[in-house]
Amino acid sequence: MAQRVINFNPGPSALPLSVLEQAKSEMLDFQGSGMSVLETSHRSKNFEAVLDSAIQRTRRLLGLDETYQVLFIQGGASLQFAMVPMNLAAGKPVDYVDTGVWSTKAIKEARLCGKETRVVGSSEDMQFTYIPEKIVINPDAAYLHITSNNTIRGTRWKSFPDAGAVPLVSDMSSDIFSRRFDPRPFGLIYAGAQKNVGPAGVTLVIIREDMLKRVPKELPTMLRYSTYAENRSLYNTPPCFSIYICELVLKWIEETIGGLDQMEKINEEKAAVLYDYIDSQDFYRGTARPDSRSRMNVTFLLPEAEMEKDFLAGAADAGLYGLKGHRSVGGLRASIYNATTIEAVKALVDYMKHFAKGR
Ligand SMILES: Cc1ncc(COP(=O)(O)O)c(C=O)c1O
Repeated sequence: MAQRVINFNPGPSALPLSVLEQAKSEMLDFQGSGMSVLETSHRSKNFEAVLDSAIQRTRRLLGLDETYQVLFIQGGASLQFAMVPMNLAAGKPVDYVDTGVWSTKAIKEARLCGKETRVVGSSEDMQFTYIPEKIVINPDAAYLHITSNNTIRGTRWKSFPDAGAVPLVSDMSSDIFSRRFDPRPFGLIYAGAQKNVGPAGVTLVIIREDMLKRVPKELPTMLRYSTYAENRSLYNTPPCFSIYICELVLKWIEETIGGLDQMEKINEEKAAVLYDYIDSQDFYRGTARPDSRSRMNVTFLLPEAEMEKDFLAGAADAGLYGLKGHRSVGGLRASIYNATTIEAVKALVDYMKHFAKGR
């Protein structure tokens, strides 16, 4: 087998090695069934146990009370940009904070769904390099939507806005299960799995009971959250293999890492290694405002954009992959999600030092 590289991809991204190894060992015979999960009925006892465990682990890790339901939906986080306003607007205006590409897309979809959509905060004036402090809270809003971590610009909400009685809705695609937070102000949370939860093909949705009551009856069946809630995400065939891997990743967070607090501590340490180095020299320049920096996606620039090609080629030679910034903004980005080890981050810093020295 070719040697595994150090993977800084933004998503799909690195998965814990032990998860991949377990999936490999169970590939031909899943728990004595004589067949692969890929071949197993979604209505089999074996798969139902996997699904149930993924739900319970999510509940335990995030500290969700019984008012929340955990759903698995296809269509990516991008489908949630539309499902959220379709299901939750309830005839009221919907409010959004625009913190970059993914929020902008969510806003666009809410408008396409014909909802009165207000942008109540934005960091567009500074190319989305910070999280805005000034946001307007409208008590008449159906919800306030934020993007907890901005994968492309490398920013994150350190703490979440207080919207009073207005439920928060968050796209947590790139930082769910990376830190502890109080779920109670959230009416709905969604996350494409392919960064911190598992492989592509499934989106985790956490929805509160009062939000389910808002779902309009005239929506098509597969676009209604209530369809998934009433059928334990088994109304139709779910992405079984993706959910199976998610369950293994959640088990890894609970049992190998030791829970969310421990996961957060590790993530804090990893991010500090990289940011401390960036702040200690003047060759590389971080692009996010320090108080808004993401712990998952570290974005930085070289003194000249022309050097990027050499940087990336040298990185690949050193076994470091996935460091190119998003095509919409350029620059460099190291995505250091849960499965990225501290050793991987240290290897990157060593390479960055070596590259800077050679210039
Ligand atoms: C924060 C965020 N939201 C949404 C998306 C889009 O997710 P999907 O490709 O699952 O639709 C991404 C993808 O990288 C993302 O980082």
